[in-house]
Amino acid sequence: MKLDFAPMEGVTSCLYRSVHAACFPGVDRYYSPFIAPDGSGRFKGAARRDILPENNRDLRLVPQVLCSRAEAFLAVSRELAAMGYGEVNLNAGCPSGTVVPKHKGAGMLADLKSLDAFLSEVFSRCELKVSVKTRLGLESTAEFPAILEVYNNYPISELIIHARDRAGMYRSAPDLEAFAAAFPASRAPVTYNGSVVDRASLESVLSFAPGLERVMLGRGAVTDPALFRVLRGGEALRLEELRAFHSRLERAFLDAGLGEHYTISRLKEVWYYAIDKFPDAGRLHKAINKARRLEDYDAAVSALFSSGLYDPTAVFRGR
Ligand SMILES: Cc1cc2nc3c(=O)[nH]c(=O)nc-3n(C[C@H](O)[C@H](O)[C@H](O)COP(=O)(O)O)c2cc1C
Repeated sequence: MKLDFAPMEGVTSCLYRSVHAACFPGVDRYYSPFIAPDGSGRFKGAARRDILPENNRDLRLVPQVLCSRAEAFLAVSRELAAMGYGEVNLNAGCPSGTVVPKHKGAGMLADLKSLDAFLSEVFSRCELKVSVKTRLGLESTAEFPAILEVYNNYPISELIIHARDRAGMYRSAPDLEAFAAAFPASRAPVTYNGSVVDRASLESVLSFAPGLERVMLGRGAVTDPALFRVLRGGEALRLEELRAFHSRLERAFLDAGLGEHYTISRLKEVWYYAIDKFPDAGRLHKAINKARRLEDYDAAVSALFSSGLYDPTAVFRGR
């Protein structure tokens, strides 16, 4: 089975991906958090650095683009092709209130005529393979058959289905029945995404979609960076591995010159999920969140690792 790491803006940056790939090999593909170009397809700064091949050595990256104008998408794709990428991923799932009203992300699902026009333009001119990461609908997963009819008009290299509608944000239960209907009906190969956090949740998805061969892991893998190995039948994450991973991550941020405050804020984002490996560690999590200086942060993390609260079987609890 192919197991991919989902894009998570603010978490799975190139530094995170590189450290993860070094500590936990076995991810088939990492997807970049979205590049949001301007109307002409320009993007710069952190978004550009994040996908530069030299910042993504020793892992396979698929860059993702969030935009509603085909011209901008094509301009970014040309740059990605020049960097040596063979595939670009379209974000048709972002639920953010600042994105959807602009008909971007999940907002692309609001008007299927515009979606069709966008894809028609992109597929007639894009030199890269184009994959799509979609939700099952905007207000309801019942919208998906009509959405899939549009997708099926195009040679999408892969359709990643986050099995929720936009209204469900990240909280609703994935609609496995709607996914089960979509899986065989898609012309493009399908990847499942949504709340796979352990073997049991993977088995449950597979019971709805026998024959499924591709799964994308997000928050569950940030909680448990060894989840790829665990799902392949390997050993559970050991406390020492998690400690080494976090200290390498911190080192990588500091070595990249990100500065103490920025480094701490990025690491707190990771702990938002990773804390679930330490049930009942609310007080210790608070100390991490309170830390403003590196020495306080390091002391709080060290206290957590020595607390005895680590549970190798604990998983992302969902929130
Ligand atoms: C903090 C955060 C940032 C995310 N950023 C992106 C993004 O940049 N592009 C994208 O397609 N999805 C993004 N997602 C959605 C995830 O890729 C994934 O579809 C979602 O979390 C469901 O999978 P999971 O239940 O395995 O986490 C983000 C999710 C979260 C929680």
